[in-house]
Parts: sequence; C-alpha cells; structure tokens
Amino acid sequence: MSLKNCHNFHDFKRLAKKKLPGPIFNYIDGAADDEATYQRNTAAFESCDLVPNVLHGVSDVDMSVTVMGQKLAMPAYCSPTALQRLFHHRGEKAVAAAAGKYGTLFGVSSLGTISLEEARRISNGPQVYQFYFHKDRGLNRAMMERSKQAGVNVMMLTVDSITGGNRERDKRTGFSIPFKLNLAGLTQFAIKPTWGINYLTHERFRLPQLDGHIDMGSGAMSISRYFTDMLDPSMSWQDVAEMVRHWSGQFCLKGIMSVQDARRAVEIGCTGIVLSNHGGRQLDGSRSAFDQLAEIVDAVGDRIDVMMDGGVQRGTHVLKALSLGAKAVGLGRYYLFPLAAAGQAGVERALELMRLEIERGMKLMGCPTVEHLSRQNLRFRQSSSQETMMRLNDGSLRY
Ligand code: LAC
Repeated sequence: MSLKNCHNFHDFKRLAKKKLPGPIFNYIDGAADDEATYQRNTAAFESCDLVPNVLHGVSDVDMSVTVMGQKLAMPAYCSPTALQRLFHHRGEKAVAAAAGKYGTLFGVSSLGTISLEEARRISNGPQVYQFYFHKDRGLNRAMMERSKQAGVNVMMLTVDSITGGNRERDKRTGFSIPFKLNLAGLTQFAIKPTWGINYLTHERFRLPQLDGHIDMGSGAMSISRYFTDMLDPSMSWQDVAEMVRHWSGQFCLKGIMSVQDARRAVEIGCTGIVLSNHGGRQLDGSRSAFDQLAEIVDAVGDRIDVMMDGGVQRGTHVLKALSLGAKAVGLGRYYLFPLAAAGQAGVERALELMRLEIERGMKLMGCPTVEHLSRQNLRFRQSSSQETMMRLNDGSLRY
C-alpha cells in the first residue's frame, strides 16, 4: 500500500498503522474508557442527511471562510495536536508547511515538538497557539509572552483536560514521554525499523514550549499523568477572563460543550469557541460536538465564532457542520494518520482530498459559497438518542 492508493481516512489509517510502532499508533488512535464518544463523534454525522438543490449554475465554488479574524481558503483546519515528531520525523514542520500551502490554519501545541517561533517561520498561514494552563503560573505567563512576540494569530485555550483521560491503550502499551516502554511496546518498536531509524537519525525529540520549565528528563510520564500533575484543575472563569484581557486579541476556548459555558465565553470577551470532546480522549460518554452544535449556535452564534471538531473524516461532514452554523471545522486524526503515513506529502494529500470533497459536495448541493449552506439543506432522520441506542444494540459502538 502506498500514498497514491490512499483515498480516504481509513486508507491513511491503515498505512499509518503499518509504519508506526504499535504504542504510537495506539496513542493517536486511542481514546478514553470504552471509546464510545470517539465512535459517536463520526457516527453523529450519519444522524442527518443533506438535501441538495439542483440547477443552480454552480460552475465555481468559493469555500473560503473568515473565522476569528483569519481568512481560510477552506473551512477545515488542522487542529493543534501534541508530539507530532513521534508520528513522523518532520512532525509539525510537515503539518505547518502543508496547512500553509492549502491556505488554512494550523495549531502548535503546548506539547508541540517544534517551537512556536519556528512554526511561524514555516507557514505564512494563520497560526493558533494551543495553550495548556499549567500549575506553574510563571510558565503560563512565559507562554503568553512568547506567543505574542512570535506573532501567533489566535490563542486557543484547551479547557477539557484539567485531568488525564483514562486511556487504556496507553496503559497497556506503556506509552509515555520520553519513552519508557514495557516489553510488549519494545517489541513493537523493534519490528518497525524504518520508523526507528528515522526517529534516531533526525533531530532530537524536544518539547520547546516547556523547555526550562518542566523537567521530564528524570522519568518518563504518561500523557494522562502530565495532565493530572502539571495542569491546573483549579483553573476558573476568572483566570481565563484575565488571560483574555492580557492577550487582547483573538482568543478561543477549545472544549466548550454547554450553552451555559458558551454564554460565559462570550461574556468574558472570547472571540471563538470550539465544541470538542478532545477526540473522545478525555470524558468518555460526553456528547459529540456535532450533536451539540445546533444548540450552541442558536444560543451564541450571532456573538462569537462557533467551531467544532471530532470525528470529521469527509467533506460532507464539514458541509453538515457548516449547515448547522459552524464557521469552520477542526481536523485531528484526519491529518495525523497521513502525517505518519507519508509526512508532508501525506498531509497535503489528505488536505487536497478534503478540499476536493468539499468542493464537489458544494457543487452537488447547489451551493456556490458557504453562506448558501443552511439548515434548509439538512434533515435529521431520528433523534440522536434513538440512533445511539440502535448502534449500542448492534454492538457497533464497542471498540
Ligand atoms: C492528547 C493531548 C496531549 O494526547 O492533547 O490528547
């Protein structure tokens, strides 16, 4: 199997699985507890159907959107994700370059393996900095300052990870940063020599955003323990309001799910929210962003940019989210598997496929611009609880 034979998410995932050591593949693919939320994230898109309009003379499609003050050439962007250097030796560099080429936004994580300054140099497209609020207030201040200096366009604070999700696959494989593997994990590394050689012969694995603040040298740490030990569970609306004031620019909260919280985000001056359950990796059993989208758009959509992520694998998923009122849609595993499969070329191919799918979908929907997508174009088949019950009964929600 090669890159040119990858036509969709599942193809990329299969190729990534071939290339990656098991613990790393499972870190990307895994989620919390029974992974029910992870499964639901994609299944949710099937609870409604698109209703096209025809004969609209759609020879050209403009899929650009403006979100949080940034003009994006397409309504899907690369969400910030951690540790990309583990997935491919060019990591964030490959993603930043591919996102720049496709005129879309990408994010550098607090747990990114290149510095936000370097990422800024690689892509001239809009850049988000994904902020984890640490117990170490000095680190928080330093990260804010650095982001400002580097010319980050949007500050994105993740609010769903104040403690670690129960990621059982990571427990089984011993996945940690830096690596400390159990025997099963070690065997996995040994049988993927190409990955191992690339990993060892390129730049050293680093977490430049945390350098000098967090000492991980002394012992390996699971991601779940990092969240629990390093992040501040006492983070409050007041803390965030202060950050928003201090940043005084585009400020977005990632991981908002309730109407009440969406309203508070507006009140404290945020300019965007991302509905997200962190790819099902934190609170299993939480609602999918797509299922929750209409409610939030109705409550705050006229005052703040509402985005969503989770489970997006197709252009038509993006069209459904936009029809409900999302301004743009975040991609995670959708570009991470291609990154692992083929580096920058993989991410570019995935973004190209997404772009083509959105374009084709808009033409077939009779929509020359994204403004033409509305709830008129959607019909829900049955209530999502009925849908979920059915899926639980036939076992398709189980991992
Ligand atoms: C994750 C982080 C680090 O593993 O965002 O989900």
